[in-house]
Amino acid sequence: MNDNLTTQLHRRYATKQFDTEKKIPQDQFNQLLESLRLSPSSFWLQGWWFVVVESKDLRKQLKPYSRDQPQVIDASHLIVLCRTTKMDTDRVNKYLEKIAKVRWIPFESLDGFRNMMLGHLEGKSDEEIANRLTKQVYIAQWFFLSACAQLHIDACPMEWFDLKKYDEILGLEKDGLASCVIIAAWYRHADDPYAWLPKVRFDLDHVVYIK
Ligand SMILES: Cc1cc2nc3c(=O)[nH]c(=O)nc-3n(C[C@H](O)[C@H](O)[C@H](O)COP(=O)(O)O)c2cc1C
Repeated sequence: MNDNLTTQLHRRYATKQFDTEKKIPQDQFNQLLESLRLSPSSFWLQGWWFVVVESKDLRKQLKPYSRDQPQVIDASHLIVLCRTTKMDTDRVNKYLEKIAKVRWIPFESLDGFRNMMLGHLEGKSDEEIANRLTKQVYIAQWFFLSACAQLHIDACPMEWFDLKKYDEILGLEKDGLASCVIIAAWYRHADDPYAWLPKVRFDLDHVVYIK
C-alpha cells in the first residue's frame, strides 16, 4: 500500500460521522497517549494534562456546551487537553528533578538552567503564562492528530465549546487545570460524506515563499 506521509495527511480529515460500533484498541490508544506525552514544549516545561473522559454521563453533560456536536458523545475516546493554571518555582523544580533523574546528572548542575527558566517566567502575568501554555497544548494536539493519521485512526479537533463550563463540569479548577481544546477520536463511518470531499487548501505558492 502506498502509505507515505503525504498520503496519510491527505487521508486524515476532521471526522464528523463515525462508526460507533468500533472502539480504538487499547494498545493503539496507548500509542496516541504516548504521542501527547512526547510532544515538545517550550523549555520542556510540559504545563499540561490530558483528561480522557470515559464517563458517558459526563459526556452528556458536556454536549450542550459543545454546540451539541455529536462527536462528544459518539467518539470512542474524548480527550480534553488542558493547561496547568500555574507555572511557578515548584513546577520548575519538579521538571528539573525529572531531568536530573532521567539523565543521571546532579540536580545542582541544573542551577543555571533553573535561573534562566525562572527569569523567563518572572514578571509574566497569569494571562501571558496562560497564552503561552495554551500554545503548547495546541502543539500536543497536532502531535496526537499526526499520530492518528499514521495509525489510520480518525479524529476531530474541536474548539467550539465553552471552556468555563468544561472546567466546571470536569472539576478541573481544583486540579489546577484549565481546558484548552478537545480531540474526539474514533474510526470514520463509511457514510461520512466529509471523508470524500477534496481538501481545500491554498496552493503551496500561496502559503510559502522564499526570501
Ligand atoms: C483548533 C481547531 C479546532 C477545531 N474545532 C472544530 C470543532 O469544534 N468542530 C468541528 O467539527 N471541527 C473543528 N475543527 C476542524 C476544522 O474545521 C478542520 O480541520 C478544517 O476545516 C480543515 O479540514 P480537515 O481537517 O478535514 O482537512 C477544528 C480544527 C482545529 C484545527
